[in-house]
Amino acid sequence: MQFWQGLKPPCVLGLLVGFQLVFVVYFSLGGFRGLASVLVRSVQPEFDYLHPHDVYTNLSQLGALPSPHPGTLWNNQQEYCPLLSPLLVGPVSVRLSLPPSLDEIQRRNPLVFLGGHYRPPNCESRHLTAIIIPYRDRLSHLRSLLYHLHPFLQRQQLHYGIYIVHQAGHSTFNRAKLLNVGVREALQDEDWTCLFLHDVDLLPENDHNTYTCHAQFPTHLSVAMDKFRYRLPYQQYFGGVSAVTPDQYLRMNGFPNEYWGWGGEDDDIAARVRLSGMKIVRPSVAVGHYKMIKHHGDQGNKENPYRFNLLMRTGRSWRSDGLNSLTYTLLSKELEPLYTNLTVSIGDDPYRKA
Ligand SMILES: *[C@@H]1O[C@H](CO)[C@@H](O)[C@H](O)[C@H]1NC(C)=O
Ligand SMILES: *[C@@H]1O[C@H](CO)[C@@H](O)[C@H](O)[C@H]1NC(C)=O
Repeated sequence: MQFWQGLKPPCVLGLLVGFQLVFVVYFSLGGFRGLASVLVRSVQPEFDYLHPHDVYTNLSQLGALPSPHPGTLWNNQQEYCPLLSPLLVGPVSVRLSLPPSLDEIQRRNPLVFLGGHYRPPNCESRHLTAIIIPYRDRLSHLRSLLYHLHPFLQRQQLHYGIYIVHQAGHSTFNRAKLLNVGVREALQDEDWTCLFLHDVDLLPENDHNTYTCHAQFPTHLSVAMDKFRYRLPYQQYFGGVSAVTPDQYLRMNGFPNEYWGWGGEDDDIAARVRLSGMKIVRPSVAVGHYKMIKHHGDQGNKENPYRFNLLMRTGRSWRSDGLNSLTYTLLSKELEPLYTNLTVSIGDDPYRKA
């Protein structure tokens, strides 16, 4: 017997009016968009950011996990890792102050080998990801990032390498050009299938935000930064942490070389994505959480006053300024235990006053 058969007619009427009232209130508040966003949100995973796991969770078992088919191990033919890593835990805690020493980080990451490279010990990774970090004089941020990112990426069962691209000298900082250099140098080491463009001061808070590439389109990952109150600051935002495949990188002629100083280069890169016929894809806001390490403005990275003029010419300049016009001198390449240190001379800001 169904429940309304037991109800008297006035009750049924009351129920109907009640439902109607709820819908009227609902639509007047949020309309279809509101309804759609609630429906979509209910499909998205929910994460408990108030109770994060330690960022080293599940890693001690790494060596002990059996390989899916142990018999195939001895001729070096390992099975692929599962599509979804069984080691993931969701939100992880972020340590913002007092980063451990490099020696301590090395001790916590015994399976990372020279140059900051890693491959899962029990299975063949489906992804080869190079993390490229434009860098100058931010050792404490670098230590925080290495302490956090190594276990984060290992739980994702990636084959990865971490590169810092260190701008030598005292000229104005040029983030996008350093990224170009990093891509070119990293691809000499290994056939990376995914190139991550990563700021040194951003720490991912959820390991379901996987450091892999979309087959067709560039990905922007830092969609919800604490600095922007866990929201996208504007629709075309591509700064912080983003990723391209080598093919996507070629198609957009890499990144601009002409942005000296803070700002604008990430919008130029976003414009290149569009101009070369691609679009930006993103993980959901629920997984794309990042914390930024607080700091004061850096010496040598003043706001670029020309950035708006440069952005206006991107439509004309992107084919001639980029990967195909890149010049630099690699001064040294040092394989450190936790990262590869590329030190490069990339020239001088032409607008810098003598
Ligand atoms: C990873 O850690 C979580 C939380 O401690 C645990 O529930 C899960 O079973 C662990 N997974 C593996 C494969 O060890
Ligand atoms: C990278 O290498 C350069 C050149 O040897 C060195 O001056 C710099 O301190 C190194 N940086 C890091 C973070 O290892």
